[in-house]
Amino acid sequence: MPVKAVVWDEGKLRLLDQTLLPAVVRYVECTDYRQVIEAVRELRVRGAPVIGVAGAYAVVLAAQALGGPSTGLLLALRQAAEEIASARPTAVNLRWAVERVMRAASQTGSREETVERLLVEARRIESEDEAASYAMAKIGAELVPQDATVVTHCNTGSLAAMGLGTALGVIRVSWQQGKLRQVLATETRPLLQGARLTTWELLQDGIPVTLLPDSAAGYRMSQGGVSCVILGADRIAANGDVANKVGTHTLAVLAKEYGVPFYVAAPMSTVDLSTPSGARIPIEQRKPEEVRGFGGVKTAPDGVPVYNPAFDVTPARLVTAIITERGVARPPYTESLKLLFQGQLTDV
Ligand code: MRU
Repeated sequence: MPVKAVVWDEGKLRLLDQTLLPAVVRYVECTDYRQVIEAVRELRVRGAPVIGVAGAYAVVLAAQALGGPSTGLLLALRQAAEEIASARPTAVNLRWAVERVMRAASQTGSREETVERLLVEARRIESEDEAASYAMAKIGAELVPQDATVVTHCNTGSLAAMGLGTALGVIRVSWQQGKLRQVLATETRPLLQGARLTTWELLQDGIPVTLLPDSAAGYRMSQGGVSCVILGADRIAANGDVANKVGTHTLAVLAKEYGVPFYVAAPMSTVDLSTPSGARIPIEQRKPEEVRGFGGVKTAPDGVPVYNPAFDVTPARLVTAIITERGVARPPYTESLKLLFQGQLTDV
């Protein structure tokens, strides 16, 4: 059974604290939606689909705590929902999930009824995300050749999505099908999601993984034998531009240079047709301290100016294909992504 990053437990939300991994496996218990916002901002809970699920349950927590007549409740709930949806700006899944549960709430009814409706919708989002991960993994594994060496970036496993994960789900199924030789996981500076989380998940599954500094990926690709890059996304614009963990863009340019297919695996909830291109995706800028040091140890002089975008945007022209639970989109993405939304499967 894959590890669960988010667990709804009788009126409380339990989040696996990913800032402590791999040293400590500990869940934090949230009874107030503000605790979920803090956990999202501090990356205790992270990864686009998982913050969507956590955000949906955070709205339930907010509704549980509110009293009064239903009209006042909805007003206060809308305010809390906006706070939750804005906790991190880049991954569209968060706002998408919060708006979806809020649509379920926007009717008259008692507080109990509202809470119940929100909870049903949050549970639905969770189970749909889990199902999407299995479907996407099966579809994506078709693209992985025999005896594959796959480069991945950041963490896209069960810590980042329900079920198998996104890119890591594809990798997992490729391994089960006997096609995978090894995974090359980048460290993912500055917060080391690759080093701390991806290697932890893969080692638990017995999947051969080698950890490499982000800066070694180009040299490794130049040596040959890399079958493909597979990673996730935080938001995919209508034209196929992909926002994902910073460093993704570099990998895409390198993959192009060395003729390595570059695949993005993401659920449909990550595809945002209302954002026309990557230029319109808001990119989260994070604290300078995350780059000036790690784990309380200083690695740069105090006060040195820092540029710390959490994500970057990879232009669609560098993306070989986008793997979703509905099928595989290929260029031109403006057409193929629209087709996926219309329920028309494209080929693998
Ligand atoms: O800052 P993070 O750790 O939340 O960034 C996560 C990523 O960029 C993942 O690659 C992305 O969310 C896809 S995860 C299924």
